[in-house]
Amino acid sequence: MDRAESPHGKDRKQQGPGAGGPLRQWAKPLAAVAAIAGFVLWAYFGSGIKPFRPQVSSAPGWQQFRASYGVDDFGTDSYFTRAAQHGYNLFYFTPEYGRRFTRKTAGDSVHSCAGCHTVEDLAYGFVNSDRFDAGLGRRVSFEERVMRCYAGPMDGFIPTLYDPAVRDIRILARAVAHHLQLSEGARRNGS
Ligand code: HEC
Repeated sequence: MDRAESPHGKDRKQQGPGAGGPLRQWAKPLAAVAAIAGFVLWAYFGSGIKPFRPQVSSAPGWQQFRASYGVDDFGTDSYFTRAAQHGYNLFYFTPEYGRRFTRKTAGDSVHSCAGCHTVEDLAYGFVNSDRFDAGLGRRVSFEERVMRCYAGPMDGFIPTLYDPAVRDIRILARAVAHHLQLSEGARRNGS
């Protein structure tokens, strides 16, 4: 009897500390989850800190532009659309959005890509890029053209190939070329 009872008694004793219920057992992990969720919600909605905000800031004229060039064909809030929007910001407001790569300021008479190019030129440039350049004696990519303009006319610095300052200009050009239905090698006069 004694032997039989004692293991039983032990069992009950072991259950004893857990008697606060399942809640007590989960309190720690739940607190951790709540803390993480709280941080994410704060970061997203409350903090106002830029890197936590997925949206590209909306520069003047963007809504008009996205409508005129059918950017929403690529989704109203896709990665592509956001990149195109960033490309738009860079192209029209270079000193503000491409600050790291230009010495031009809003005070200069020509301070943005748009001061010398139309966005449609950019699209034609895109479908005619990656061609042999007789002057340089080699093929030149669209990206290199963009880099050259940061360094030369923008009196600035050369972004790396992978920098959004180059990549998003390409995506902007692609969006506009898509809207104009330009095929590879299309020329302005249609020939
Ligand atoms: C001061 C005028 C000026 C500014 C500002 C300027 N560019 Fe250019 N860009 C030129 C000229 C001139 C050429 C032709 C250069 C050549 O053929 O070697 C050119 C060529 C290009 C090309 C090659 C395709 C084409 O149309 O010939 C691209 C792409 C380009 N620029 C993008 C840009 C971008 C992006 C910016 C802003 C970061 C920019 N440019 C700013 C003057 C400018």
